[in-house]
Amino acid sequence: MRHRGRLSPSSPARKQVASAQARAQAKKTAGEQHSVVIENLSNEGQGVARLNGKTLFVKGALPGETVLARIDRNHRRYDEGHMLELTKAAAERVEPQCPHFAQCGGCQLQHLNHDTQIDYKQQWVLDQLARQAQLVPEQLDAPLRSVPQHYRRAARIGINQRKDGSAIVGFRQEGSKYLIDIDQCLVLDPRGDNLFRDLAALLNAHPGQIKRITHAELTFGDTNGTLTLRVMKNLDGSLQQQLVALATSLGCGLYLNHGDHIETVHEDSAPAFNLPAFAQQLNFAPGDFVQVNAAMNQAMIDRAIEWLDPQADERILDLFCGLGNFTLPLASKAAEVVGIEASKEMVARGEHNASLNGLTNCQFEAADLTYPISARRWFKQGFDKVLIDPPRTGALEIIEQLIKTPVTQLLYVSCNPSALARDAITLKEAGFKLQRFCVMDMFPHTTHVESLALFVKH
Ligand SMILES: C[S@@+](CC[C@H](N)C(=O)[O-])C[C@H]1O[C@@H](n2cnc3c(N)ncnc32)[C@H](O)[C@@H]1O
Repeated sequence: MRHRGRLSPSSPARKQVASAQARAQAKKTAGEQHSVVIENLSNEGQGVARLNGKTLFVKGALPGETVLARIDRNHRRYDEGHMLELTKAAAERVEPQCPHFAQCGGCQLQHLNHDTQIDYKQQWVLDQLARQAQLVPEQLDAPLRSVPQHYRRAARIGINQRKDGSAIVGFRQEGSKYLIDIDQCLVLDPRGDNLFRDLAALLNAHPGQIKRITHAELTFGDTNGTLTLRVMKNLDGSLQQQLVALATSLGCGLYLNHGDHIETVHEDSAPAFNLPAFAQQLNFAPGDFVQVNAAMNQAMIDRAIEWLDPQADERILDLFCGLGNFTLPLASKAAEVVGIEASKEMVARGEHNASLNGLTNCQFEAADLTYPISARRWFKQGFDKVLIDPPRTGALEIIEQLIKTPVTQLLYVSCNPSALARDAITLKEAGFKLQRFCVMDMFPHTTHVESLALFVKH
């Protein structure tokens, strides 16, 4: 039916007219160039300016700068653009060290002085906590600071083939699904300096097999590591032998991930890293979650132990425990630690790691913590303190169960500020205070923010 005359506010036709108007308005300024002053840094690393009352995100610009910006896309509430010319540079601007910075999607903040990056990240999380949860930490501890380069002991490297048959070995291009060739990654452990070049040369000698491999996963332990190739089909023997030689030159074993299982092709020793402060060694295997920044991992565990302060008569719950990264250090102080993790393989690794380090007071159990777990024996036995280290999705389901127990101290290790703020609302409503908080420079030059938040109920 055609509408004549006035349309009701909720009529579909009126909504169509409104969205057509919004689209027309949204198109209006794309392509224009304006000189703008950058007021802030978005949590995606873009400069934030105001232009004619609307927010403009300017790629490549930093707070305090005046830039000539081109508007690329209009949205209803904000516009997006990029920097054409830098009129006045911020004191914090630095020359990016990495030659791939302009194209690579890996790092977003190499143009910002490394020391300043973590200060912005701290502000992002504090803003999010204040805005979303109306929470201000009672005590703000200094950020844990990392070295700026060569901090990553793990990386996922994309592999593809060009139309001319040559291999692309690298990372995703910024804002795209396409891969770009990487020559050397400056944030990766220096043991991986030649990996991209060597792997590309090797694959270029076997062009018929490049499409059989989709990506490689590299994880360095302290003296060894794992190089795992995700393969869609078996590889020819000669390529496999050359890959073993390449992995060995890195000090790594070679593994093939076939999707339903991981095949060990060559392994000289069980991959492992140490936690020197606790004189503990943790074994890992391909596919395991391993904290990427080894030095920050040790610093994070030290701070977690200091804040949670486990006592010799206490029972601690370590949720999302992985292969025991926090469980084992906690067990060196507490009476008993129960580590819970979804992956059965990592539960087995946790058990193995506990016995490797002579710890008899750790228990590991497999459980999906997005499901009700309050009927589980280990949950019903009670605990004094809890550490949770969830994935990016956060830990709302388990927090809703924890707040019904007598537990009064919960240390939240977060890799996602918005999930942390959302979960903090539930904790706050249950009477918890955010007693201590700090951010950690786990991933310098990227926009990722990790933080530690100690929630306490008096
Ligand atoms: C951020 S990692 C932390 C691992 C460990 N705490 C560490 O420091 O190495 C999150 C862990 O949660 C596990 N995980 C993810 N989803 C889960 C779920 N629904 N239930 C239980 N564990 C889960 C992952 O397998 C991973 O080991």
